Amino acid sequence: MSSASSAKHILTAPAWPYANGPRHIGHVSGFALPSDMFSRYQRMVGNKVLMVSGTDEHGTPIQVQADKEGVSARELADRYNRVIATDLVNLGMSYDLFTRTTTRNHYAVVQEMFTTLLNNGYIFPKTTLGAISPSTGRTLPDRYIEGTCPICSYPHARGDQCDNCGNQLDPTDLINPVSRINGETPVFVEQEHYFLDLPAFTEALGSWLQSKSGQWRPNVLKFSLNLLDDLHPRAITRDLDWGVPVPLDGWRDRPDKRIYVWFDAVIGYLSASVEWARRSGDPDAWRAWWNAPDAEAYYFMGKDNIVFHSEIWPAMLLGYDGRGAKGGAPGPLGNLSLPSEVVSSEYLTMEGKKFSSSRQVVIYVRDFLARYDVDALRYYVAVAGPENQDTDFTWSEFVRRNNDELVATWGNLVNRAVSFAARNGGEIPAAGALTDADHALLQNSRAAFAAVGEHLSHSRFKFAITEAMRTVSEANKYFSEQAPWKLRESDPERMKTILHVTLQVVADAKTLLTPFLPRSSQAVHEMLGGVGEWSGGPRLDTVDEEGGPSYPVITGDYDAAFRWDSHPIAAGTPLAVPTPLFTKLDTSVVDEEIARLGDQPGQD
Ligand code: MF3
Ligand code: ZN
Repeated sequence: MSSASSAKHILTAPAWPYANGPRHIGHVSGFALPSDMFSRYQRMVGNKVLMVSGTDEHGTPIQVQADKEGVSARELADRYNRVIATDLVNLGMSYDLFTRTTTRNHYAVVQEMFTTLLNNGYIFPKTTLGAISPSTGRTLPDRYIEGTCPICSYPHARGDQCDNCGNQLDPTDLINPVSRINGETPVFVEQEHYFLDLPAFTEALGSWLQSKSGQWRPNVLKFSLNLLDDLHPRAITRDLDWGVPVPLDGWRDRPDKRIYVWFDAVIGYLSASVEWARRSGDPDAWRAWWNAPDAEAYYFMGKDNIVFHSEIWPAMLLGYDGRGAKGGAPGPLGNLSLPSEVVSSEYLTMEGKKFSSSRQVVIYVRDFLARYDVDALRYYVAVAGPENQDTDFTWSEFVRRNNDELVATWGNLVNRAVSFAARNGGEIPAAGALTDADHALLQNSRAAFAAVGEHLSHSRFKFAITEAMRTVSEANKYFSEQAPWKLRESDPERMKTILHVTLQVVADAKTLLTPFLPRSSQAVHEMLGGVGEWSGGPRLDTVDEEGGPSYPVITGDYDAAFRWDSHPIAAGTPLAVPTPLFTKLDTSVVDEEIARLGDQPGQD
């Protein structure tokens, strides 16, 4: 396994959830759980992982929901930042720092990036026609405007594109444009805005993406390369009062001009790293993940976020470094690294339908965890999540996998091996001479570390967990075939050897399953007589910035004490009496949960 000297610096960058409502399991199957499995594995091989994220709290998505709930944008962001952070802790998400985009530190880093991009010539001002809501005076973002498509006459085309013919549109192209928020007709006025010069990065982005061929998930790479055919300058300021102020004379103090939410949010990965370093006591510690050429960075998200992570954010980083067509020099943050991989998942649907909060086709994280085991959800997402194609979550599949795979396979192995040993001596017995069957089983589980690890390091979660579970199935088969309970009188030494071998494989499987199932791996660790923390979890802390309001952050100490390898169990270790590792679900759960789902088509 990796020694300390070959340890890599790995940035894990899960997408920042909007603080505009609680997250459902469709959301967390994309950005959250895969990134945690990846990070836990990387820590276990001895790499230095920095996993940072936070809530995305600016822009129209927050403003629109705040209006609906009748509170200010700030109050809304405070409310859902707390809700989301609590859910992520309960999911076992091992963030080194989960913060928010409304910190002073974030504002400062965003403004620094804006300034250097401007100085390097990659941001320029331009006057355009923008839509305004006459009743509120606020800008209407393109996707909140609807009208008839000028190309195919589809009546529900949006201001950014027509979903019927697929063409990109401008809001001014729409026939009879109306606001999707309140139905009124927008007025178009001249507005001055700043634009990011994306075409200046066509070449640099192209050669960077080409170099990823064969490494990224094919869908993600193909989608990203296609974007390069049609790069246009993109507005990165908005007429809005909620966001990061534009750091320019004449703009800084204007209440109606702010930086576009996506420009600010992607910078969060960097600003959160800076905040983490400051809180850790070494303000420059973030540089090992961002300035060192051999550091690696993995970004996790749902597919609707690809464009921001494989085109816009890399363009911003290249521009900051002075590596676009206009040259330039890095600002004070130094040369910033591009993503090593954009790991995007596909969509999860729920019982054949799109998740929808308004139609109640949804199960929120909090409700899920109130009724079911966190590891049952993590298992399902790993083995049956939307890793490479759109995937349907069904309650019957959830119950089946929980009962057949977690309870009847892994839980059963742990239970039969540990109970039998606990009743026959109460400790890990010593092994005598090993048979071929013993060697074969042990070798198989030792070999699984390389195979499962190889899959995990490439975010192939389905293959990884399937391989880990194969070790469990083989141990079950071995235990049944060897039937140690028949040997209690006739050959107690052989019985002990069988038990020892089985418990060794239980210990190995526990390690192999730790990135996926941290809660139950901790429990198995204790049943096998282990003490202390095996798979540490996150905690919610309260922090502040000097003189500023306090806010919750997720953090934790996740230094893996135990490495990604088979660790010999020690004969004589006292065993704990096992308690059931997983809970069998009654099949009535399926009907109950389906009855909870609303289903009124057309009421979005
Ligand atoms: N808030 C966005 C969403 O939920 C994701 C932002 S990811 C980051 O779709 F790049 F901005 F960080
Ligand atoms: Zn159309």
